[in-house]
Amino acid sequence: MDINWYPGHMTSARRKMQEDIKLCDVVIELLDARIPGSSKNPDMDNLIGNKKRVIILNKADMADPAKTELWKKYYEAKGAYVLTMDSRVRKQTLKVTNAVKIVCKEKIERDRSRGIMNRPIKAMVAGIPNVGKSTFINSFVGKATAKTGNKPGVTRGNQWIRISKDINLLDTPGILWPKFEDEQIGTNLAFIGSINDNIIEMQQLAVEFIDYLKDNYCKVLSERYMIEDVDDSYQILEKIAENKNCVKKGGELDIDKACRSILDDFRSGKLGKISLETP
Ligand code: G4P
Repeated sequence: MDINWYPGHMTSARRKMQEDIKLCDVVIELLDARIPGSSKNPDMDNLIGNKKRVIILNKADMADPAKTELWKKYYEAKGAYVLTMDSRVRKQTLKVTNAVKIVCKEKIERDRSRGIMNRPIKAMVAGIPNVGKSTFINSFVGKATAKTGNKPGVTRGNQWIRISKDINLLDTPGILWPKFEDEQIGTNLAFIGSINDNIIEMQQLAVEFIDYLKDNYCKVLSERYMIEDVDDSYQILEKIAENKNCVKKGGELDIDKACRSILDDFRSGKLGKISLETP
């Protein structure tokens, strides 16, 4: 499906990030563990330049663990420091702090040699919409002191948050990029809910999702939706509508409702651990 979604607010958010990144020592880039390739904004490389980077494969609790491991190795082989996370779990401050300290080792040592001690590392948290940036940041807030408030160069919406004496985090809005190089990237982003559903042909998306389940996780169809021996994806959708009792007033099947329902089931993890890409 040919999808592109780059609303105006993302252009201004990108511009703001370009400014803010100058204030940061490191970027914590959140990827969705179910699509660690498609959720990686290629434009981030331009934005980040030669700043240090930690990659978080977030929502790892919803992804296929064997595939997540492959992705971790894939990005590590490219020289990145990679963590896998379920950001809803609190008390992961140490894990993230350690990762940031490791990638910023040279800077910390340079500061120390100049007699600068205890200067917190400034880390920008970046990622596509819905990847879990707020959840990631909120998971630290229990331990954090108050927000450090607006600072020069940081405009409204971007907040500095002190998570420990060692690190301040900068929250940023989720951004995508102007044109997806491959149609599948847009489709994958739509599957996980990072593209506004209002611009998407939901029936086509649901059918493509069922195609993927048939080829890769056919047990989900039999175990979750009780579908056996049906090959055509649209017919599967009709069966799901029947089984879920998605019917309109006159008794006609409500296919749109079934589409939303199956995608919601996936997005909320009800279908189990599913990854949509392999490196
Ligand atoms: P964003 O700031 O990057 O846009 O994402 P946000 O934190 O708002 O998270 C989007 C949704 O993803 C939220 O669910 C959040 O709970 C969920 N989420 C974030 N991180 C993880 C994770 O590591 N694992 C799982 N399973 N879910 C995660 P929601 O349904 O939109 O909101 P809510 O009802 O949970 O509040």
